[in-house]
Amino acid sequence: MGADTRTWFGAAEPGSRVSDCRSRFPIFERLVYINSCSQGALSDSVRAAYEDYLTGWDERGAPWDYWVERAEAARVAFAGLVNGAADDVAVTTSLSAGVSPLASAIDFETRPKVVISDFEFPTIGQIWHAQELRGAHVVHVPADGAEIPLQRFDAAIDEQTAVVSIAAVCYRNGTRLPVEEIARIGHERGALVVLDAYQAIGTYPLDVTELGVDALAAGVLKYLLGSAGLGFLWTRPGLSAQLLPTQTGWFADRDIFEMDISDYSPSPTARRFQSGTPPVPAIYAGIAGIELMQEIGIAETREHVNGLNERLIAGVDELGGTVVTPRDPERRGALVCVASTDAPGLVAALADDGIVTSERDGNLRVSAHAYNTADDVDAVLAALARHRALLA
Ligand SMILES: Cc1ncc(COP(=O)(O)O)c(C=O)c1O
Repeated sequence: MGADTRTWFGAAEPGSRVSDCRSRFPIFERLVYINSCSQGALSDSVRAAYEDYLTGWDERGAPWDYWVERAEAARVAFAGLVNGAADDVAVTTSLSAGVSPLASAIDFETRPKVVISDFEFPTIGQIWHAQELRGAHVVHVPADGAEIPLQRFDAAIDEQTAVVSIAAVCYRNGTRLPVEEIARIGHERGALVVLDAYQAIGTYPLDVTELGVDALAAGVLKYLLGSAGLGFLWTRPGLSAQLLPTQTGWFADRDIFEMDISDYSPSPTARRFQSGTPPVPAIYAGIAGIELMQEIGIAETREHVNGLNERLIAGVDELGGTVVTPRDPERRGALVCVASTDAPGLVAALADDGIVTSERDGNLRVSAHAYNTADDVDAVLAALARHRALLA
């Protein structure tokens, strides 16, 4: 079956904001870049934002008032992305830098259990296992292939559970967990539900009220088109006032200009989960990336990427390869994983063909974004046909 006869829906119409955005990303003049699960491509506006930062630094020396204002603008931008309030957002240097202070504030005395899924990114597993030094007991909900049946969460979460910590989309296989259902179970049993939305944010619209979670953390360097060095943590309204992080810094204080070294008086808002000097260059880039993504449209991008992924999955099927990611578009993010007999070798072979992908856990990771096209997918499929021996 030729590419033109494959099921094909949701592709961006010529002239749409999605189809028009590709020219903003110079990398496509040289490479087929289809690796946004790892890092978003550099746009003209993010490059300009870095130049803007350098110009301001050079011309004005130390414009800290403006830089702090930029951090506040990042807070507002993050809040908008998840449909929350700015005061419920901490601006951090990474996802880990938001989740770790949150974890440091949990009391495990009466509820020692932390339930995490087997789909977590290393930082989540490591942060919660570190809490075992403070009395926590971490329980993993085991996977069944690339799925984790809801009943397994139901069985693991109980009245001893302080925290349920899950990823919206797994970085290893692209599976999207049923966050709303897991959150409901967690809340029925009195646990806090923490969501790692890094592989989801920018790929489909997120709304913290609809998700029903207590905390959501993410960063900007993947589908939000920013760079390394900026993340955020949103917490449910009213929750931060109940949690006292022992991991802190002066940008978490109720008044950073108090310059007080004689006490610990954290901000009443989610700022209490912040730490030291904000990552100003990454904030410039992050705001530019988020604004560009909002301009392109996250919902429109979702529809476009679903179309590309249908094409990719159909093509891998034709090659006799194994798509590890669930076939139902509602059960996956933007990432599609393909099993390989030698995933690093396959990534290297594709790189030799000018195609940038990545791998984890024996799987090739192909992650399309707004800027990718059906031609990119066809280039991947043609390369996979050439390297068929590396498909499992
Ligand atoms: C699901 C997920 N969580 C977290 C991270 C990274 O977290 P951090 O910002 O702490 O490096 C990544 C990717 O790097 C990820 O894919």
